[in-house]
Amino acid sequence: MNSSAKKAILSLVFALAGQLAQSAGIGYKLIAGSAHDFSATGAGGAAGYEGENGVTYLTANKCTTCHAAHKPAKTAFLWKRTLGAGPGWTVWDGAAGKVLDGVNDGEYLSVAEFAQTGSAMCLSCHDGVTAIGGTTMRLAFRGAWGRNLPDMHPVAKRVPFGSDGWQPDLTAGNSSAFGNSNVVVDTVGNSSYVGCTSCHSMHSSPSAATYLRKGESCLVCHNR
Ligand code: HEC
Ligand code: HEC
Ligand code: HEC
Ligand code: HEC
Repeated sequence: MNSSAKKAILSLVFALAGQLAQSAGIGYKLIAGSAHDFSATGAGGAAGYEGENGVTYLTANKCTTCHAAHKPAKTAFLWKRTLGAGPGWTVWDGAAGKVLDGVNDGEYLSVAEFAQTGSAMCLSCHDGVTAIGGTTMRLAFRGAWGRNLPDMHPVAKRVPFGSDGWQPDLTAGNSSAFGNSNVVVDTVGNSSYVGCTSCHSMHSSPSAATYLRKGESCLVCHNR
């Protein structure tokens, strides 16, 4: 091969590499290097991932801290981690708060149903009870709520789609409206429930800075 052909190939390679770098740079939140990177090559290196206040989480793999290829705890998303089962969950219900119990009363999920939702996936670490690679996320942490959630936007609560104040096309059973929107709800029976993953996305956030879903994340549900 002569040198000008080599140069042509090299410049093509560089152009492609540049394009790849550009598309990698769009800004999607990646696990690598993020607060959710628990691998030895992550922020903490082989000594473990060091979180806020100097708490060290022992290292695990980038993906397998949360996912399992075989025998996951929950087949949806091949979810590996123990889900937040058992009692003690209090969620928003005006000033009083609502303790989730054994029944789905049509407004709030039962504890057992809650443990199967997207919220439970997040709360398998952000509950200050479940261990991440041997260390429990401390309750004092920003973003570790324990089981006490009444002072945050409702979770485990039914979205009353089809009524006043809610996006009109998002009625139960209108799957194409759901498909075309950024609404992500936990569907139990024929009803939709709001949860952590309604507003947050672990991998599909369009921004490198946040874990928020794309679109008008409030207006996909509320029609105000
Ligand atoms: C395997 C455990 C684990 C799971 C599962 C998990 N998180 Fe986290 N998350 C953490 C830890 C640890 C931190 C960092 C806290 C620290 O610095 O120690 C964190 C930090 C965050 C932050 C702050 C990010 C930042 O850059 O400061 C957000 C937002 C967040 N998590 C949201 C979520 C959401 C939403 C879910 C569910 C979709 C989730 N997490 C699931 C462990 C987890
Ligand atoms: C801190 C926990 C955590 C880690 C680590 C993690 N994931 Fe996920 N993953 C989730 C959650 C939560 C969901 C559910 C989707 C959502 O965010 O609503 C998910 C969903 C997925 C999905 C399907 C839906 C989607 O958004 O693409 C794929 C594929 C996936 N993860 C791949 C990976 C790979 C590959 C890695 C390693 C680089 C990884 N995950 C690391 C928490 C995690
Ligand atoms: C109604 C939408 C909504 C719901 C539901 C929701 N969040 Fe958030 N969350 C947000 C917004 C908006 C922010 C601010 C994000 C930012 O500034 O980057 C945030 C911030 C956070 C942070 C970072 C806190 C900080 O101090 O920076 C964590 C961790 C978090 N959320 C986890 C969760 C978990 C776990 C759940 C479920 C129990 C949840 N969120 C439910 C919208 C929501
Ligand atoms: C997945 C659907 C969904 C999304 C997305 C969503 N919400 Fe909500 N929101 C709800 C549900 C369900 C309730 C509880 C409604 C009820 O009690 O009737 C609620 C309640 C509220 C309330 C309390 C209303 C009251 O009765 O006092 C406020 C304020 C609110 N949401 C603001 C927001 C904001 C701000 C965002 C974006 C960060 C947001 N919501 C995103 C479903 C959603």
